[in-house]
Amino acid sequence: MQRENQEHGNRSSDNLTPDKIRERVQTIIQLPALPTVALEVIQMVDNQRTSASSLGKMISSDQALTAKVLKIANSPFYGFPKKISTVDFAIVILGFDALKEILISISLVSSLQKQSDLFDGKAFWDHAIVTGVIARRLARDLGYRVSGEVFVGGLLHDMGVSILHRYFPNEFKRIVEISRESELTFLEAEESVLQTTHAHVGGWLAERWNLPDHLAEAITQHHTPGAARKNKELVALVHCADVLSTRINSNSCVEFDKGVSLDPIALSHLNLEGAGALHEYVDSNRTVIEEDIDLIMAMGHVPRVSK
Ligand SMILES: [Fe+2]
Ligand SMILES: [Fe+2]
Repeated sequence: MQRENQEHGNRSSDNLTPDKIRERVQTIIQLPALPTVALEVIQMVDNQRTSASSLGKMISSDQALTAKVLKIANSPFYGFPKKISTVDFAIVILGFDALKEILISISLVSSLQKQSDLFDGKAFWDHAIVTGVIARRLARDLGYRVSGEVFVGGLLHDMGVSILHRYFPNEFKRIVEISRESELTFLEAEESVLQTTHAHVGGWLAERWNLPDHLAEAITQHHTPGAARKNKELVALVHCADVLSTRINSNSCVEFDKGVSLDPIALSHLNLEGAGALHEYVDSNRTVIEEDIDLIMAMGHVPRVSK
């Protein structure tokens, strides 16, 4: 009987191929799955025939979810002047897109929160929020109609890293060691160990969550905007915001995105002349972007991870 390397779990003897990683990402029961009701609500939001009242009924069936939705709907981030006291009203005021944004954010608060020497959870969340905020504001200012999804795209773009850290610890350790000890970037180290990257892993989780295809694409292609097919603008917005995030907040500088640079294809998808225009945009909008970030942090959209 061959039982080689059994105690090492995820060693290369497991023949961990991208297909196997995908299967594991999509079937691990305790993945940071969205709470059942939240998942149903997200599916309802995506269905054009869903009415606000049927959606309200579904959310109201979960007391904790109702309380959280109302708390966030009443936060300054959405800027509604009067108190929103019912879920039905929250849906009408906020709209389906913002609701989905809220639900996904709520779900993330309780998941993906593990910290170790190999993974700085605080920097991970700073980076996710800063990227989401920049992407959202950039979308609005450039006049793209994808702003409802773009915050979520920015927020989730690197969730594959968190999945690898949590569910593929042996591989993750090797990837970090390789990227720290060699000239390889984190992405190259991922390729060498897994033959895939955190971008694809995140995209597989997005599929598992039944997020819309173009949102999954924004996650999968955030380092390769030239490969976008479904929504090139959304992918380009997330890509640019990802690269620009360190310009706003050096705390959001994450090991796994080191060496990543602006892809000219993303700039052309957004009809931008060059990287200079984008840097200028961020510099001149620094104050409003920082205010948005503070608001999201303050309303508890994100977990406070202590080091
Ligand atoms: Fe990334
Ligand atoms: Fe990133």
